[in-house]
Amino acid sequence: MIDLRSDTITQPTPEMRRAMAEAAVGDDVLCDDPTVIAMEARTAEVLGKEAAIYMPSGTMTNQVAIRAHTEHGDEIIMESGAHSAIMETGAPAALAGVMCRLLEGERGVFTGEQVAGAVRTENVHHPVTKLVCVENPPNRIGAGIWPIEAIADVARVAREHGLAMHLDGARLWNAVAATGISEAEYAAYFDTVSVCFSKGLGAPVGSALAGTREFVARSRRFRKQFGGGMRQAGIIAGGALYALENHRERLAEDHQNARRLAEAAATLPGIEIDLETIQYNIVYMRVPMGTGVRYVEALRGHGVDILSTRGDVIRVVTNMTVSSADIDRVIEAFGKVFGE
Ligand SMILES: Cc1ncc(COP(=O)(O)O)c(C=O)c1O
Repeated sequence: MIDLRSDTITQPTPEMRRAMAEAAVGDDVLCDDPTVIAMEARTAEVLGKEAAIYMPSGTMTNQVAIRAHTEHGDEIIMESGAHSAIMETGAPAALAGVMCRLLEGERGVFTGEQVAGAVRTENVHHPVTKLVCVENPPNRIGAGIWPIEAIADVARVAREHGLAMHLDGARLWNAVAATGISEAEYAAYFDTVSVCFSKGLGAPVGSALAGTREFVARSRRFRKQFGGGMRQAGIIAGGALYALENHRERLAEDHQNARRLAEAAATLPGIEIDLETIQYNIVYMRVPMGTGVRYVEALRGHGVDILSTRGDVIRVVTNMTVSSADIDRVIEAFGKVFGE
């Protein structure tokens, strides 16, 4: 099977396993784990922030950030398809007690003007607007990488209104590989940044939340409250650190594979792809309503595993386990299934 369901399906490489097996460990709740400490410091350095904190998942880093930026009853602003709004089990309401004000973006991108229009005026009846969350790259159909000017525009308006800025950068590494804009350049527009090691970078576990030393200290309390305090976490942080140092550059290969597959699939009957949004490793394709699962099953019959994320959407995610030669086979399988 060529597994294109997600970039989270990867297995640690032998070198990564060795780094994990040999990682020095300690009790991370007591801030004693040397590998976690090293990994957090390196992540903060790459992102140009004062500090970072390791957590089990991207959901937790986003939700701890939202919790730490807000008080119950506040309102936060994000795009209507944002992962934090619709794919994290209602956590902003459940864990932080905040309301989400959702903006309709174009290709996943909203504007400073939209933010200005959504900020609540000071009034005893209103929730207090506190935070703007940006997801870059956005993980949903029809969305592309945020132009840096669009981020700057939103950040400027946020500052004018005294709002904090959080970046869900689960795949920020992919945006960097695609645009050549560094992690630190992106991160400079945000108070806090969440990044994942368990997606394109291929580590088995973990994400990090970066920001000021003070914010990270506050987040440490919420990580514990949410049940994310881990003990000898260096075993897994060792994999994350290895991935951070060794797997960022190879992401360009995943992007080339995604592009080649998307261009071939776009020529097939029954598939609709906005090629302008194919900029990193995720390819969403629109298919006739109700056929998604059927196509997934048909492709499985040809040795290709993908997901249907909606009745009329299928998704392919190129990843470390898939070579350029595999993509030739995937293109052939798509040709057979959609050609029929
Ligand atoms: C944009 C984005 N943010 C956050 C997450 C959550 O990450 P996790 O699955 O580690 O909780 C994902 C997961 O795919 C994602 O795509």
